[in-house]
Amino acid sequence: MTHQNTPTEGVALTAIGVALIRERESRRPDRLYDDPLATAFVDAARRDFTRTEAGAAKWARVEALAEQFFAGRSVGVRLVDDRVTEAVAAGCRQIVLLGAGLDTRAFRMGLPADVTVYELDLPELFAFKEPVLRAVRAAPTARRHVLPIDLRTAWAVPLRERGFRSDLPTHWVDEGALPYLPPEDHLRTVATLTTLSVPGSRFGLSRFAVDSDAPPYAELRRLVSGDDAPMPPLEAGRPGQQWLVEHGWHVRFRTWDDEIVPLGRDVAVHDPKVGVVLAERV
Ligand SMILES: C[S@@+](CC[C@H](N)C(=O)[O-])C[C@H]1O[C@@H](n2cnc3c(N)ncnc32)[C@H](O)[C@@H]1O
Repeated sequence: MTHQNTPTEGVALTAIGVALIRERESRRPDRLYDDPLATAFVDAARRDFTRTEAGAAKWARVEALAEQFFAGRSVGVRLVDDRVTEAVAAGCRQIVLLGAGLDTRAFRMGLPADVTVYELDLPELFAFKEPVLRAVRAAPTARRHVLPIDLRTAWAVPLRERGFRSDLPTHWVDEGALPYLPPEDHLRTVATLTTLSVPGSRFGLSRFAVDSDAPPYAELRRLVSGDDAPMPPLEAGRPGQQWLVEHGWHVRFRTWDDEIVPLGRDVAVHDPKVGVVLAERV
């Protein structure tokens, strides 16, 4: 199987880093989730990158960075899985992944067939993802719609065109994508999903104190935008809890350290401001 579409630069490259993390987690005997398709993505990407010497050097940097982020980010994947499971149990039949990347929840979580998963991400991401899924004949358990779009555009229009219904409760997932948007687009995206959310809808997001100049984040920014053209800092446009409350969301905050206790991993951050926000539309 050969692919020519691997995103070797730009923000879609970050999705490969997270696939590396999920692939690594899936190999552990004490894994927090199992994502066999992550192996297919990683194998395809590795083959593409390592065709040239420069590509192989960059691949080594991507792997090294994924290793640095592994412990915390992998636990974060499981926390999002748990929120999705809870939302489906509570009656949400639409799940929208904002910046879905190489996420495979529509395949790996055993979601019921009456649930629809909408995956929104850039066209270059799906130009890589969909051929890999086809090559391994992956079949989702839930209905799955792929929207190759830029979240900086009016994405609600294509979402509705694919059958999204704003009269049904929806679970919205922001798992590390919205911080890449310019602040005004980040806020506009959250405002848009707010207008599309009836009572019972949920919006799960994490609150981290990201120091964009700390070494792993600085390397992440260099990998995305090139060594000479630094990307702007992450997180700048995040709407706060106050914004969500003022716009009709009931907001619950749990610290990261409380959330991770049942998972038995040594990834406490000892910072009560870091945690998970679960907003529910009232
Ligand atoms: C760190 S990855 C996370 C992917 C996925 N949520 C996960 O956890 O595996 C960030 C994702 O955001 C997507 N992204 C960044 N900017 C975007 C934009 N303007 N429109 C759509 N997707 C975007 C990237 O393509 C990438 O897949």
